[in-house]
Amino acid sequence: MYRFGDMPEVMKDIYHNNIRHMPFIAQMALATIAAFGMPILLPVLIFFACFALPLRIFNKLLSGSYKGTQRLDGKTVLITGPESGIGFEVAVNLARRGARLILACYKASDARATEAKIRELSGNDKIVSKNFDQSDMRSVRQLADELNREEEKIDILINNAGIQAWEQVVSTTDDGLEYQMAVNYFGAFLLTNLIIDLLKRAAPSRIINYGSVVHWRARELDIDNLNFQKGGAGYFKIYGTSKLCVMLFTRELARRLQGTGVVANVLHPGLTDTPTYDRPQPFWFRVVNWLPRKLLFKTPEEGAQTTIYLAVAPEAEHMSGQYFTDCSPASSSKLSQDPAMAKRLWDKSAELVGLRDNERKI
Ligand SMILES: NC(=O)c1ccc[n+]([C@@H]2O[C@H](COP(=O)([O-])OP(=O)(O)OC[C@H]3O[C@@H](n4cnc5c(N)ncnc54)[C@H](OP(=O)(O)O)[C@@H]3O)[C@@H](O)[C@H]2O)c1
Repeated sequence: MYRFGDMPEVMKDIYHNNIRHMPFIAQMALATIAAFGMPILLPVLIFFACFALPLRIFNKLLSGSYKGTQRLDGKTVLITGPESGIGFEVAVNLARRGARLILACYKASDARATEAKIRELSGNDKIVSKNFDQSDMRSVRQLADELNREEEKIDILINNAGIQAWEQVVSTTDDGLEYQMAVNYFGAFLLTNLIIDLLKRAAPSRIINYGSVVHWRARELDIDNLNFQKGGAGYFKIYGTSKLCVMLFTRELARRLQGTGVVANVLHPGLTDTPTYDRPQPFWFRVVNWLPRKLLFKTPEEGAQTTIYLAVAPEAEHMSGQYFTDCSPASSSKLSQDPAMAKRLWDKSAELVGLRDNERKI
């Protein structure tokens, strides 16, 4: 039995044994009722009823979807980060089109379980999985070595793996790279360089990279401070910078690959409700982000459409160095289109990831 003086303990007990396990929406509703009671909750419920559905329909109409029915029989697709979110939906879709898939899953995840799920949903058993860590350049090298040893060609490379690391602002990996930069940019840069012969052998072939609308947040790029060693950057700036680097990388990659039959494009999938937003975040952000996430963000299947378009649409075989969103070319920041900056970034990145002379094939 609790006494009145035990109130803080009672609250903790209720939280840990009951509320903690409820979905976030239920926690929010309970907190609102506890704090303000019905007079506040009622208008909130009315707001949901009046606006949620129309907003969702409006959003659905705006987001591009790809209707093409092209098959990918005989094609090999390498996709990184296929365990969840957009990558998972892309993998299922391409498997249904008959592609042979290589799933490059995060080292801590159950790659076999992802493989089994995609086999089951697609009815395609030409699927293999591997584990790696895109933040660790040694692990990226191991994956590339295996692929170069085992594969004859790769027709489509989808560099999907990425994070939004709220909890890891300016943290340095063993390679001396900033963690979020390493996962979102340096790892994909190194992997692409190391397996480029496989893509050239498959030409016409395609490379698809993931930028983000948040690249606009990076208004400058200090080539001598790519790992934020001089400090002064928060999560959002680092994330934006990592995506700006992917955009510049894609531009320079496309330029260098001209005439090889390998095209490279970059996309923003649209704000999409995926597990990336379940990573540890400040409480205020979860609260502010929750409503837009549920009302306005795309579903993972909708977020996958631009990738599917770039992977299978016949016309995408001839486009290179472009930025896409909603299955159409989109405008990007002036900085992301700066050819001189793209070249400087390439040279510096090659140095930072330790690309050897005999590996510089692009
Ligand atoms: N969702 C959006 O609103 C949005 C907007 C713009 C751009 N994007 C980009 O879209 C891509 C897919 O994101 P998503 O939203 O689908 O998020 P997600 O569901 O979290 O998918 C990201 C994938 O990357 C994997 N990954 C994370 N760290 C890795 C590492 N060190 N090595 C290898 N794999 C790693 C994750 O594996 P685990 O699940 O095992 O951690 C996961 O499978 C990302 O590049 C993201 O930046 C997303």
